[in-house]
Amino acid sequence: MTSRTSTLARTGFALVVLFSALIALASLRFLFGVEPPEPVFANRFLPGWFPLHVAAATVALTLGPFQFVRRLRVGVPKVHRWTGRAYAVACLLGGTAGFAMALGASTGPISQAGFALLALGWLGCTAQGWRMALQGRHATAHRDWMIRSFALTFAAVMLRIYLPITQAIGLPFEESYRVIAWACWVPNLLVAEIILARTRPRRRALPA
Ligand code: HEM
Repeated sequence: MTSRTSTLARTGFALVVLFSALIALASLRFLFGVEPPEPVFANRFLPGWFPLHVAAATVALTLGPFQFVRRLRVGVPKVHRWTGRAYAVACLLGGTAGFAMALGASTGPISQAGFALLALGWLGCTAQGWRMALQGRHATAHRDWMIRSFALTFAAVMLRIYLPITQAIGLPFEESYRVIAWACWVPNLLVAEIILARTRPRRRALPA
């Protein structure tokens, strides 16, 4: 890696940590009695699932970025293992609740399908990442699936970046929301695949 790409990668990672923390922190308000915005409030599956979704997803968003810090992973592997388990459990609970809520999204079948596929992808990538860790395939398959898992966790941040932009430029809310139900995660997965393709040879050479 040249020093320019390494500065870029560090800056990108710092932004990921910052935005994840901000969205996680902001989401906590819904656990303290604040009602979600109108289209989410109208979700017919909100009552049973919303608190679980927000609580679990907040944990996933907060812990996720730190799992990629090599110094922590190699220096204190016990911490990486326990925070990894907490991250995976949080994704599985948050994803199950997210899937249920996806089916009740008030903006119709396009957003329902977008959120439901996101939830299934989140569950699948996380479960696969956990399974690969249990099999000891740390430097390869485990990292690949966890990078995909976090790319999907980060959909929560992208949704909350895209939505205010569409509103600021005057696009109609419902149509924008339907597009964003897909746009908040499909490009993230593509970026994850680009990162994986670029770093795979280097990561294969590293110790687990
Ligand atoms: C990545 C998988 C995720 C899926 C499938 C998912 C799914 C959903 C769905 C379906 C809704 C309701 C949308 C509607 O009714 O129109 C929702 C709302 C919400 N989700 Fe998630 N979500 C995910 C990740 C996250 C994460 C990581 C957080 C972070 C804390 C989060 C926090 C929230 C919050 C706060 C709301 C409601 C209020 C708002 O829109 O700000 N979600 N989610």
